[in-house]
Amino acid sequence: MPTIRLLADAGELARAGAGEFARLAREAIRGRGAFRVALSGGSTPRLLYTTLAGEGAGSIFRSLVAWEKVHLFWGDERAVPPDHPDSNYRMACETLLSRLPVPAAQVHRIRGELPEAAEAAADYERTLVDRFKVAPGSRPRFDLVLLGLGADGHTASLFPGSEALRETTRLVAAPWIESLKARRITLTLPVLNNAACVLFLVAGEEKAAALRSVLSEDRPPEEIPARGIRPAKGSLVFLVDRAAARLLPASLLPAG
Ligand code: 6PG
Repeated sequence: MPTIRLLADAGELARAGAGEFARLAREAIRGRGAFRVALSGGSTPRLLYTTLAGEGAGSIFRSLVAWEKVHLFWGDERAVPPDHPDSNYRMACETLLSRLPVPAAQVHRIRGELPEAAEAAADYERTLVDRFKVAPGSRPRFDLVLLGLGADGHTASLFPGSEALRETTRLVAAPWIESLKARRITLTLPVLNNAACVLFLVAGEEKAAALRSVLSEDRPPEEIPARGIRPAKGSLVFLVDRAAARLLPASLLPAG
């Protein structure tokens, strides 16, 4: 059963997300000496990343994380070069990486610039196997996976009807996205569902119908991919703002 935290607005959601990030980082670093997180793309996480990297008075989160022990990965990427305006890596550079002392050797971007998206997926899969020391047939276990939610119910780059939703073996896929007329590179459900914690960030009224579908309608992941996110041995948390939660049944919302 997912945990739902209702926040007033996008700013409070970002601060709550930064707090969870810092808490999970401290736990992982204390327990295993490293924190391995898969970042989300899109616009919602921007504010979380700038809040984490905050300088000056607002930098409480920045100082809570031992950044030299953080290993950054991505949940998905567009099939574009790292300096492209659509690149999730570029967005993270602008908001997070350019401001924090994460060692370059611990930043593992998806190489969207490779000639074929399938090649980028295979390359990233090799990186995951190497970095997580994944034995054949098993999967990497992220300490945290950050995810957004599309208005059509997609998450990462798992879109409605995508063949990637049926992937049970590969760690990374490069599905064709008909609605975008483009390929994307994405972690597959077996990897996402092997995470210790999956944290959805959902803000804005344009997400309200999708969020209701995810949390309160019995629809298959084929139709609502975010419903395919069910960590078998991990926590599932939704940070949602009031605008995104406006269509949720009152029974789903925390009291008060
Ligand atoms: C991406 C993300 C994607 C995103 C949703 C929501 O690469 O864009 O992986 O799944 O999280 O589309 O995007 P917004 O946060 O911009 O609404």
